[in-house]
Amino acid sequence: MNSRPLIETATRLFANNKGLLAMDESNGTCNKRFAAVGIPQTEETRRAYRELIVTTQGLGESIGGAILYDETIRQQERSGTPFVKALIEAGIIPGIKVDTGAKELAGHPGEKVTEGLDGLRDRLSEYYRLGARFAKWRAVIAIGKGIPSRGCIEANAQALARYAALCQEAGLVPVVEPEVLMEGGHSLERCSEVTEEVLQQVFCELYTQRVMLEGMILKPNMVLPGSACPNQKAGEEIADATVNCLLRAVPAAVPAVAFLSGGQSAELASARLNAMNLRFKSRLPWALAFSFARAIQQPALELWKGLDANVSAAQSALCHRARCNQAARSGQYSAAMEKN
Ligand code: 13P
Repeated sequence: MNSRPLIETATRLFANNKGLLAMDESNGTCNKRFAAVGIPQTEETRRAYRELIVTTQGLGESIGGAILYDETIRQQERSGTPFVKALIEAGIIPGIKVDTGAKELAGHPGEKVTEGLDGLRDRLSEYYRLGARFAKWRAVIAIGKGIPSRGCIEANAQALARYAALCQEAGLVPVVEPEVLMEGGHSLERCSEVTEEVLQQVFCELYTQRVMLEGMILKPNMVLPGSACPNQKAGEEIADATVNCLLRAVPAAVPAVAFLSGGQSAELASARLNAMNLRFKSRLPWALAFSFARAIQQPALELWKGLDANVSAAQSALCHRARCNQAARSGQYSAAMEKN
């Protein structure tokens, strides 16, 4: 493994307080998001939407990397420019989602394990040739009565570590995403306990599989009360719980922690990331950044509605969210930014 390009990519992704834009929805997920706002679900509308994103002027000032999906990494603008080329020209490093989805875990009702290791070495070398320099694999952990189980945590952590080792071998920075889901009535404390257990296991497996921590990115959930928990918390409490959990479980050699948004509103995700950086930034070994899909894209998607006439308004909204999150990386985001 050649460590230097991996470390350089990991550094470039988050330089100047930038973060990642996840635009790697599978066709099924993308269609679901389109259906919810009345956009027809075709390959052409998915392509047109991704063209809207990659041609947004100035996006590269706040976005260091964009995570693509297998369909998208092969697509082009109407003019014929491949999306990968457009991103690179905008200063945005192309990345790729490489897992093949979370499937029911045998013997563990209500729990899932992420698949995609078979044939992964060959797929990674193809994606590298297509221009990707980092990759993503998402594991999902649900909280509920009697879950998560050790079986679910261990199976997912091991798959994440095997994926990460293959990525580094192929010259791609692995984004390691163990997502503890927000759905449920659980408390903030329960989310913290589960997130810590999952992260401890993930780093144990990453060590066993000889993953170079300096050349990877962690993409965790924020520590939050469940979405149905009556006792919701202020941004400061969420910031404290999240950072304290990460400090206990994430080695200092990891260069950056880039949160997923997980269904939080765009404004809450920015405010919470901001609170973490405002309170802790100068004392942390890793950068605290973002790798949001919904919390960057959703306002733009709702404005676009699939119509050419709305492209420019949607692009402004996308840029605005990216800038808000860039500001949150240095504790300079405020509600006033939403009014301008
Ligand atoms: P959300 O920010 O919408 O949770 O998506 C992030 C992601 O990439 C999930 O894998």
